[in-house]
Amino acid sequence: MRILVINGPNLNLLGLREPDIYGSQDYAALCGLLRRTAQQDGIELSIFQSNHEGDIVDEIQKAYGVCDGIVINPAAYTHTSVAILDALKAVAIPAVEVHISDVSSREPFRQISYAGMACIKTYAGLGFDGYVQAVRYLEKYLNEKKN
Ligand code: DQA
Repeated sequence: MRILVINGPNLNLLGLREPDIYGSQDYAALCGLLRRTAQQDGIELSIFQSNHEGDIVDEIQKAYGVCDGIVINPAAYTHTSVAILDALKAVAIPAVEVHISDVSSREPFRQISYAGMACIKTYAGLGFDGYVQAVRYLEKYLNEKKN
């Protein structure tokens, strides 16, 4: 099983960036957690981060025929990007949305998620653990689909 994790803009600045909202652990710690999860579960996992919308669209397109599932935190593009929504719909790879913070209790402009409209599940407000839960949800979903 091959899962792709995509992180959007400014998530490379985790640790530095608004630690009261996103915590004090950095992006390398998130990648380490994801790699350990993949190793424990015996799955292949690749991690991609970009600050550029088109690069995220390209990465989703490249996953077609290669990846079984996508975990995506589109960050600010969550609330603006029809292009990322359309890319997820185009490849039709099962995707799970993650947000480190609880977006539902934040500003009104964070209340809409375009990418979420193409996702089978959303985890928000669980910090880094939301990514682990998203990977495990996808594993279960894909295993059940196979049988
Ligand atoms: C975020 C929430 C978004 O609203 C914000 O723009 C981000 C991070 C989160 O992980 O909580 O950059 O996706």
